[in-house]
Amino acid sequence: APAPLTDTFGRVHRDLRISLTDRCSLRCTYCMPADGVPWLQKDSLLSTDELVRVARVAVEAGVSSIRLTGGEPLLRPDVVDVVARMAALEGPAGRPELSLTTNALKLPELAEPLREAGLDRVNISLDTLRPERFKDLTRRDRLDDTLAGIAAAEAAGLAPVKINTVAMRGVNDDEIVDLARFAADRGLHLRFIEQMPLDAGHTWKREQMVTADEILSTLRSEWTLTERPGRGAAPAQTWLLDDGPASVGVIASVTRPFCGDCDRLRLTADGQVRACLFARTETDVRAVLRSGGSDADVDAAIRRCLFGKKAGHDIDDPTFLQPTRPMSAIGG
Ligand code: GTP
Ligand code: 5AD
Ligand code: SF4
Repeated sequence: APAPLTDTFGRVHRDLRISLTDRCSLRCTYCMPADGVPWLQKDSLLSTDELVRVARVAVEAGVSSIRLTGGEPLLRPDVVDVVARMAALEGPAGRPELSLTTNALKLPELAEPLREAGLDRVNISLDTLRPERFKDLTRRDRLDDTLAGIAAAEAAGLAPVKINTVAMRGVNDDEIVDLARFAADRGLHLRFIEQMPLDAGHTWKREQMVTADEILSTLRSEWTLTERPGRGAAPAQTWLLDDGPASVGVIASVTRPFCGDCDRLRLTADGQVRACLFARTETDVRAVLRSGGSDADVDAAIRRCLFGKKAGHDIDDPTFLQPTRPMSAIGG
């Protein structure tokens, strides 16, 4: 078997996040501008054969979990076929676990076919339960469609369904308890997320951010929280609400970074390997693919990228620079 995908800090990479498209059906203010989005060029996007090939090489090198992201991954017309082909991959760890992060709008039609194609589970973005607020935040009036998508994911058995909620001061921080209760009542696992400096307008300020400590103290006004041990390399810390079984998570990428345990690497829709959300450099695997490179060349490109991976994101460093690529083109 080939050597594992290790970086210079000894972190072994088993989790590949693949962005299927930079397009989206919503325009969340923390991710995309209202209009004039700098879309990726059509001919720069990886074909399905190309992205399955990169995934295969990564799985053969020990990747055991693949997450499909976007933009909105369900906007890729052949997403069901992509899932089926990913599900057929086989590595030293067997078939990779397959998950997808989505805004849920297309799940009423797609949840069942995705499940049949081999998708294991979904994470769904939901930042508010108020229709007017949803419209302001996503610039589209589609809260009901998102809720229908969540129901479709549950009905199709894409479990556990996780909900992602980016906490934003003055936007939805007054809904923390409501959102937690909504999820707990339905048996969904909701994670509150500290907003990271990846917004389209580059307006993020550390002082403005709703921190994990604030989120937890708000939740404690309503429930007794008991931390669940065994976070491992997962971004979320989990707490039981009262004595459970309901639980909520907090993804505190900024105040409690998990970079030391990071096992993730990313492939963008235009074929660039990124070792970190906040990486300043990328490795062009598309060029390797399109110049007739072998599987060994693809594997070498992935390892080259990991060789340059930094210890952490350095958000607190005064010299920190937000990545030039917008979040919608990195893939969460
Ligand atoms: P699970 O395996 O279900 O726990 O998925 P996940 O939480 O890793 O993935 P998801 O796509 O749902 O992302 C949830 C939040 O975690 C988003 O805000 C992501 O941007 C953030 N996130 C995912 N991966 C990383 C990472 O490697 N580093 C940092 N800092 N944040 C990440
Ligand atoms: N900070 C933290 N999370 C973000 N997401 C999008 N932008 C940001 C940001 N700036 C989340 C979305 C989605 C996930 C992939 O990333 O809510 O659920
Ligand atoms: Fe990994 Fe970079 Fe995220 Fe830290 S910020 S956990 S190194 S991807």
